[in-house]
Amino acid sequence: MMATSDAAEPILVLRQIVKSYGGSAPAVGPVDLTVRKGEFLTLLGPSGCGKTTTLHIIAGLLSPTSGTVLLAGRDVTGIEPPKRDMGLVFQNYALFPHKTIFDNVAFGLRMRKVPKPEIHQRVTEMLGIVGLPNVENRLPDQLSGGQRQRVALARALVIQPTILLLDEPLSNLDAMLRKRMRYEIRDLQQRLGITTIFVTHDQDEAFEMSDRVALLEKGHIAQLGAPEDLYDRPVSRFVAEFIGDANLLPGKVVGMTNGLVQVNIGKDGNFSATDTTGSLKAGDAALFMIRPERVALLHASEAGALQAKVLKRVFSGELINLELETTGGAKITCSKPSLPQYRDLAPGHDIWLRLDDGRALKAS
Ligand SMILES: Nc1ncnc2c1ncn2[C@@H]1O[C@H](COP(=O)(O)OP(=O)(O)OP(=O)(O)O)[C@@H](O)[C@H]1O
Ligand SMILES: [Mg+2]
Repeated sequence: MMATSDAAEPILVLRQIVKSYGGSAPAVGPVDLTVRKGEFLTLLGPSGCGKTTTLHIIAGLLSPTSGTVLLAGRDVTGIEPPKRDMGLVFQNYALFPHKTIFDNVAFGLRMRKVPKPEIHQRVTEMLGIVGLPNVENRLPDQLSGGQRQRVALARALVIQPTILLLDEPLSNLDAMLRKRMRYEIRDLQQRLGITTIFVTHDQDEAFEMSDRVALLEKGHIAQLGAPEDLYDRPVSRFVAEFIGDANLLPGKVVGMTNGLVQVNIGKDGNFSATDTTGSLKAGDAALFMIRPERVALLHASEAGALQAKVLKRVFSGELINLELETTGGAKITCSKPSLPQYRDLAPGHDIWLRLDDGRALKAS
């Protein structure tokens, strides 16, 4: 059942999951996904791509139109949420406004008829773990947004769920707190060893927190892999553009050598590239991709270098972003650390560049 031998045990499997609301295309699916025990997996994608729908199907809050949800090998497709042992943090926290923080966190334990002294001990301990001691008697609106977020996390974790499901839990927080909470949640997840499925539309958040990322496009998984895989070997234009910045130059495959494809990008000539899907052949239309930080700048000509002019220079503090135009007419963005040798590159400046180690993507 599992794809690779080094992979940990699968804990959750989605098999051919489809959710249709009656429109021409289903909102989600068909989706196949295997989540490994203990991993932090993120569903990433633009608004409306089906992240919440997929998460709610996993939680049991929505029934799929077709397909199967397997939890630890057991078919749970028709099983209601409380019997799935999943802890869910909603997009808007959904705390009970008239219950105290203690009662909010204790809720799932009371539902499960856990004895009173144990409830007290577990709630107190969990509030300590999320960094919120001494707020038991307050109401949710007497806490800050970040604190409420932690209460929602504590409420989901206190039942010791098999899987923790988080739907954009950081979206209501300011930028600073948002960043700090990324590390806190990741740290907590690793300390508890809890399998976590996280939903976000923020690529940085997904990359900094996850073991693997599933990038969704219109209800489908466009690509699933470690952050490095998605960044270094995007399989399509959508992935290349959603993840980071990319130079994408339209061209044509003109040959293959040593496992690399040669892509002709017009007047600037041919460049060798790794074929990210392994299915390109001579004659195919392709996109030559190179990330801005991989564009090498030279101050003098050398074999294989392209001559270019600086069109624009943008200083962002830590980076210098340069817009270049080659003699062949290709527009290329290049980003360099903000060091003196790059700060002087004003518009009009002549420069040479190399486009080594590019990628060849299917044109689409
Ligand atoms: N009850 C519903 N009836 C009809 N269409 C729905 C329903 N719920 C969701 N959809 C549609 O399904 C698609 C996926 O919605 P979903 O909420 O899963 O997106 P999302 O990726 O979570 O987006 P966001 O980032 O905005 O939260 C959207 O096109 C949405 O309009
Ligand atoms: Mg959503």
